[in-house]
This record gives sequence, C-alpha cells and structure tokens, in this order.
Amino acid sequence: MIQVSPLARDPHALYEAAVQAVDHDLDFCERVWRTVRGGRFRLLREDFCGTALLACAWALRRRENRALGLDLHGPVLAWARKQHLARMGGAARRVTLLRRDVRGVTRPAADVAVALNFSFWAFRERDALRRYFRAVRRSLTKRGLFVVNAFGGSEAFQELAEKRRVAPSQGPDGLRIPGFTYVWEHARFNPLDHRLLAHIHFHFADGKKLRRAFTYDWRAWTLPEIQEVMREAGFADAQVYVEGWDEQRDRPDEIYRRRRHFRNQEGWLAFVVGVV
Ligand SMILES: C[S@@+](CC[C@H](N)C(=O)[O-])C[C@H]1O[C@@H](n2cnc3c(N)ncnc32)[C@H](O)[C@@H]1O
Repeated sequence: MIQVSPLARDPHALYEAAVQAVDHDLDFCERVWRTVRGGRFRLLREDFCGTALLACAWALRRRENRALGLDLHGPVLAWARKQHLARMGGAARRVTLLRRDVRGVTRPAADVAVALNFSFWAFRERDALRRYFRAVRRSLTKRGLFVVNAFGGSEAFQELAEKRRVAPSQGPDGLRIPGFTYVWEHARFNPLDHRLLAHIHFHFADGKKLRRAFTYDWRAWTLPEIQEVMREAGFADAQVYVEGWDEQRDRPDEIYRRRRHFRNQEGWLAFVVGVV
C-alpha cells in the first residue's frame, strides 16, 4: 500500500489536487499558440503562480521550455521550491520564481503569459486591471499571447456552496493524498459592483474540516469587460474560448472552442486570450 503523504492536510497540496488541471491548461495554451502563431512557444510567464505547479509542468514538458513565476507571497514560493523545484533535477534551472507584483514588467519578454483560476479578479477597479494588463503586454514579445480565464452563467453569481469529491491522488512527494471533499463557497455577492467574497474549505473522511483554507475578495469581471480592458491595454485582439457541454453525459465536455456568441448556461467556464 502506498504511504499517506505528510502533505495530506496541507492546504497548498489540497488546492493543487482539487483545483488545478495544469496539463489541460498547458495543452490549451499550446493549441491556441499553434493556431494563432504556428509552431511552439518557449518562455511562459505564470502570474499569481502560488506553488508554481504550472510553471514547473511547463519546464518539465520539453528541454527547450523556460518558465517565470511571479507571486507576492514569500512563503508560497518557498513551498514551491521545496515541494516542486527540489524534485525536478536539472529542469529546475529552467524555472525562475520571483517575489514580485504581477503589475511589474519582466524581461526577457515572454511568449505566453497566463493568469489562471481567476486570480486577476483580485484587481477590483478597472484602472488597476488595465494597469496590470498593460504590464503584461509590455512583458510579452511582439508575437505574445496572454491567457486568462473567467466563469459566469445564469446561476453563477449568488450565495452558494458547491461540494465536489476529489479522488485519491499523488502529492508532490509521490505519496498518497487520500480522497477528500472540496467546497467552493460564495459567501457574499453584491450585484451592484460584482464584488464576490469566496472561500475554499476542505472536508476529510474522518469528519475533520479545514475551513476557509483560502479566501478571495474579488470582482467578478464579465467577458465583455475583460475583452474591452485587454484592448484598452494595447492588445490587438481578445478572443473568447468557451467550454462546451456534453448533452448526453449532462456535464462539461472539457473542450474550449472559440466563440463569437453562445447560449447562456447555468454555469460556464471560458478562456480569454489577449493577442499582442
Ligand atoms: C489563487 S492563488 C493562484 C494559484 C495558482 N497559480 C492557480 O492558478 O490556481 C493566487 C496567488 O496570487 C498571489 N497574488 C495576489 N496578488 C498578487 C499580486 N498583485 N502580484 C503577485 N501575486 C499576487 C497570492 O499570493 C496567491 O499566491
């Protein structure tokens, strides 16, 4: 039997297991790059990188790949170094982690910048969002792409608590993270300014709970606003890709297609791609 990981109750390890799907995100970035630019890209900037799971996965994909991760929080970067970089061998040299605000311009210019899992919703004023998007554009090459995601839908913005079982998985140490329940709570939503207070809780099989493991005080930006602000920040185009719905299995089909219009659903996920 595989030993249970000492990280089995660590909020960062649980977040990675429950929330992140970095291979899927990187496949999407590669597909869009192939379609819009052709070929492959090399340097990826991961904004709000946290544990830098995506940056590390990018460096591990191919020897030519390089990644830069930016986060303001020193302890989470230390976690990334200990749990991921230290286990990557020589590939760790292809990842640079900086304790920096994402509103800074970075060099060398990146091919692709990503801000995933809605992290940019932390910027609640339009001016702040534009300033951030502009810094990203200045940090990209002339062929650069900027990938963010958003969620919405007719049932999305209300007070709610969604529970999802997370199957047993392997922690960064290779040991077992037993299954647990992930809870996504919208504690408050104000339709007047779209301010959304959300929490992540983890519930375990023995009845113990890790409440408010993470809290987000966000502005829920809409797709038209994100596209507008990208253009205001100097991007030549902003493309929207929406996840499809599998009617037969009554669940999302995990395929993001470029859309110019789509029928609203109770809940949807989308990527918005800023094209330099
Ligand atoms: C939800 S985590 C993102 C984790 C992971 N990258 C993901 O995609 O799911 C958000 C991270 O953003 C960081 N953060 C918040 N504001 C920031 C800023 N202005 N500049 C850099 N990092 C910031 C926080 O320290 C936190 O680690």
